[in-house]
Amino acid sequence: MAEKTLVILISGRGSNMEAVLDARLPARVAAVVSNNPQARGLGVAARRGIATAVVDHRAYPDRTAFEAALAAELDRHRPDLVVLAGFTRILTPPFVERYEGRIMNIHPSLLPAFPGLDTHQRALEAGVRIHGCTVHFVTTTLDSGPIVVQAAVPVEAGDTEARLAARVLAQEHRIYPQAIRWFCEGRLRIGRDGAVAVDAACAAEGALTAPPLEAR
Ligand code: GRF
Repeated sequence: MAEKTLVILISGRGSNMEAVLDARLPARVAAVVSNNPQARGLGVAARRGIATAVVDHRAYPDRTAFEAALAAELDRHRPDLVVLAGFTRILTPPFVERYEGRIMNIHPSLLPAFPGLDTHQRALEAGVRIHGCTVHFVTTTLDSGPIVVQAAVPVEAGDTEARLAARVLAQEHRIYPQAIRWFCEGRLRIGRDGAVAVDAACAAEGALTAPPLEAR
């Protein structure tokens, strides 16, 4: 199978980006693109010899113009998969539809619980006993696309937002590369029911949320 091309979008720290870079995936990371010129992850990527680009949303009059510039930057690399890794701009339907089935995100909660921001604080306030993270394909509805994989994290007595976030982040760094690997190996399908099906070998790796392909 031909090596896949990834482009990673970040806005800040870039620790998920680093986890993807560290994972030795059967893929080439063609570029790391940020809307934020100050994003720490840009320097990390550059030091690793990865091409970086900034498409600063503040330089454009509106979302449409920003997204046109962002899409132009992405499409230069002909990505098989666009990887959102802490990318904080909301993307409009025309942009998302352009990359349908080939754009993924990681969200720091067990979706559909706690879409949006401040997920760890909200989980603590809700008193949930289990929290976690979700890798999903991106659709036009925020934080609600087909789920690829999730990891659960227990909420412990006396947890603070920071402690819980750190425990979830460790799982993010595990499952995001795993999901991208499955994509690159052609082992994911979005079924007609809108859910992600995985092959039996993926299922054996655990933390899955969908039955194996054979079962459909
Ligand atoms: C992660 O918690 C991710 O789930 C969320 O934003 C955070 C980004 O962290 N979407 P990093 O930039 O990958 O370190």
